[in-house]
Amino acid sequence: NNFVVIMAGGVGSRFWPVSRTNYPKQFIDILGVGKTLIQQTFERFAKICPKENILVVTNEIYRDIVLEQLPDIKPSNVLGEPIMRNTAPCIAYASHKISRKNPDATIVVAPSDHLILEEENFCSIIKESISFASKNDCLITLGIVPSRPDTGYGYIQRTDKSTESNFYKVKTFTEKPDLELAKTFLKSGDFLWNAGIFVWNAKAIKTAFEKYMPEMNDIFKEGRVLYNTPKETEFIKNAYTRCKNISIDYGIMEKADNVYVRPSSFGWSDLGTWASVYDVKTDKDYVGNVVIGSKNVIMYDSANCMVRVPKNKLVILQGLDDYIVVETGDVLMVCKKSEEQMVKQIVADVKQNT
Ligand code: GDD
Ligand code: MG
Repeated sequence: NNFVVIMAGGVGSRFWPVSRTNYPKQFIDILGVGKTLIQQTFERFAKICPKENILVVTNEIYRDIVLEQLPDIKPSNVLGEPIMRNTAPCIAYASHKISRKNPDATIVVAPSDHLILEEENFCSIIKESISFASKNDCLITLGIVPSRPDTGYGYIQRTDKSTESNFYKVKTFTEKPDLELAKTFLKSGDFLWNAGIFVWNAKAIKTAFEKYMPEMNDIFKEGRVLYNTPKETEFIKNAYTRCKNISIDYGIMEKADNVYVRPSSFGWSDLGTWASVYDVKTDKDYVGNVVIGSKNVIMYDSANCMVRVPKNKLVILQGLDDYIVVETGDVLMVCKKSEEQMVKQIVADVKQNT
């Protein structure tokens, strides 16, 4: 009675030029390991949950990519969204669809684009969370010990009262704080990053939607009789236009009073930027260069570079220290690694000028 919902509808703009709107990060083999991030995610969960209980929610425009990359998924388990409305509608839709036939289901909700290095450890934490969530009406999130005041994450303050289990009641949840607040959180030592991986039973998430997002809940509840009928697609098309654009973190996690966190460590990275890919790669050369893609990269006097270029491309670097060099199809980008926050700006400028 366990289900997994993989959220795969986002656009990873910081991985430009490799990640594009028509082919975002989750569908790319960012690390050069032979599998895309969504393939790794699906296989990881297939070890814990029957494949017919794994759903992927994504934009309609990515449906064919999902089916191509996940040949084992049942086509009816790919839920298509007509427009991007962030993660709350995605979770509301999937929850209603699952609970209609399985009101007692336990549901894991996970991003499609994260790296998890210690798979065994991850699986055992998920199993433990499923077991806790099946017995308690609570919203579980996995928490990671923070290493920098990153403003792109949710911050979870847990109660210090140790419970019998590994699950701690959450005192506060703050999604994407500003830098000053993030620094305060980090200093206090009381906070964990939200990994964005959630576990709950169908009843607990239903109650939370009814309480904190009643309008959105009503929209997807109304469609319950149409789910798994030919009328579903049309209903959903219309339903999404009525939905607020909001994430589950702002919509529910910040407000709910029955949130529990499971402090976790399983070699997690949300692979947010090229520098984070550089950081997780363990196969650096002796001067700290990472090369993904081509075997024909020749370096003179170059160190600490993150190079990702097409297979078979002959690439020569001379005198580069701490650079990102990324080439794909029609674009070559060379950018100082320590200044990679520029990539967002670069993408915006390029979009405007091309
Ligand atoms: N189906 C669907 N539809 N999926 C979506 C949508 C959507 O409209 N928008 C985003 N997603 C998917 C993304 O593909 C990703 O796998 C996941 O949902 C999370 O969305 P992000 O856009 O990557 O969220 P974030 O990184 O800004 O923040 C979340 O993750 C952080 C950890 O990486 C939050 O949960 C934070 O609190 C958390 O710290
Ligand atoms: Mg993310």
